[in-house]
Amino acid sequence: MNHPFAGRSMAVINDFTRDERRYVFTKTRELKEALESGDPARIERFRISDPDFGIYEVFLEDSTRTKESFKNAAHFHRAKLSALSSESSSFNKGESYKDTFINLAGYDNRIFIIRSKLEGVCRWLENALSDYSRRHGLSWKPSFINAGDGRHEHPTQELLDEFTFLEDNSWDYSSIHVALVGDLYHGRTVHSKADGLNVFDSVQVDLIAPDVLEMPDYYVQQMRRNGFTVRTFPSIEAYLQQSHIADKWYFTRPQLERMGDRVLKRKDELREMITFQHRFLSMLPEGTIFYHPLPRNKENAELPGFLDPLPLNGWERQSANGRLVRIILVGLLAGLFGEDFSGKQHQEMPDVEDYIETVNTSDRPAVKRYSEGVHPIDEGIVIDHICRGDTAQEIREHMGKIVSILGLHGKGGEWVSTSQESREKFKGIIFRPGHRPLSEKEIRQLAAITPGSTLNIISAGAVKEKFRLHTPPRMYKISGLSCKNELCISHPDHHEGVDPHFIKTDEGTMHCLYCDESHTFKEVWR
Ligand code: NCD
Repeated sequence: MNHPFAGRSMAVINDFTRDERRYVFTKTRELKEALESGDPARIERFRISDPDFGIYEVFLEDSTRTKESFKNAAHFHRAKLSALSSESSSFNKGESYKDTFINLAGYDNRIFIIRSKLEGVCRWLENALSDYSRRHGLSWKPSFINAGDGRHEHPTQELLDEFTFLEDNSWDYSSIHVALVGDLYHGRTVHSKADGLNVFDSVQVDLIAPDVLEMPDYYVQQMRRNGFTVRTFPSIEAYLQQSHIADKWYFTRPQLERMGDRVLKRKDELREMITFQHRFLSMLPEGTIFYHPLPRNKENAELPGFLDPLPLNGWERQSANGRLVRIILVGLLAGLFGEDFSGKQHQEMPDVEDYIETVNTSDRPAVKRYSEGVHPIDEGIVIDHICRGDTAQEIREHMGKIVSILGLHGKGGEWVSTSQESREKFKGIIFRPGHRPLSEKEIRQLAAITPGSTLNIISAGAVKEKFRLHTPPRMYKISGLSCKNELCISHPDHHEGVDPHFIKTDEGTMHCLYCDESHTFKEVWR
């Protein structure tokens, strides 16, 4: 399948490059103009018009706008729309996501729209169902669209938000200044903005949230990596005390259903800090527009009703745009249009570069001999420089993990000693006299558990082979890995059979492929 969009999934906004998103917006604009023209021939070009083309909605959390706008988009396409009822499906009999969706794909359904409490579901299903397509020799693979997963992302909301910002920017991509206000901690729509806003060339973001509702650090860092200028403020009141005020404000509601008791106790005080008051109106720059993914609470709205008739009401048009961008997204994934796209395409993840360095031992005249205590080792393995620089206690704990994950039980010992370069620094050494050399798979596994260490294979009293182990750029298919985010689809408590998968970031942290949670190197080990 060579179509640039057909059969693809959108688990996070970054699954589409900025060129691809700009293409979505151009198409959406053409559709909007066609609908406004009322010309049936122009409108018809945007329809799939195939009653057998299967679109499935699976909403495992409440929704009005996202669910109904996708439904209206499917009706526009004159496609076959089905919905899986969460109350009466086999999820309640303990069936896994993978089995459920393999079954629905077997009925020839092509596009799945999923909202769930668990994070990373669409990424997981995209991978698992690609294998299914291959197994069955299908010429197509199903697309998965994330309609909101826990506190993670909401990429199609991001598309309609960006489209509306652009409309209000007179289609100028050069710069945007936007204030994000509200529950930035739990709000998935604002998390998608960390990558989504890079559709603009220059981005200034002001984050307005009280301490417990602040944007998670990962997304703030991601905004900075994307070159955005980021400022933070604890309340609207504090924001309005300075003079550089954004002309676009994006509000989100406090997500009470995701808050713990500690935060819920403070809900009234927190709400006050993110609610727009009448007296603030005169402080806004001319032409300011307000947006909101909705819903807003009918009793305590962050955007109170007095704002509805004012020209700054952008949220009603924003919500109507939801159907339009979703019509275009579905049309692209169905392969209806998009062949003329010529910008930068999304790349699959590159192959893993090597992280096992073989150290040449043959040209060393004085081969280092390893002894465990007073006994020189003749045959076996020695893992050296483990966790260099950590405390003795940390090193001991980590050596315990290495032994248990690699099954290195048996003769030999684990030592904490000082490193040769610096007497103040500790390092760990595992001696296994008589142990067979490790297999390639085991060496890779060892690198994943203890990067920075060296592995010595000892034969006839000398180091026969030596490997320096670096941090792998990706870690998966290794037993003992686990994501610490309890909402992640790969978390062991959910028993979904998902192989945990981590990607090393430029900062050296490990990033979960499914939920984007950042881990230190040690945290990925169960
Ligand atoms: C949002 C959501 O569900 O993430 N709403 C939406 O999709 N339009 C925001 C919210 O629930 O607060």
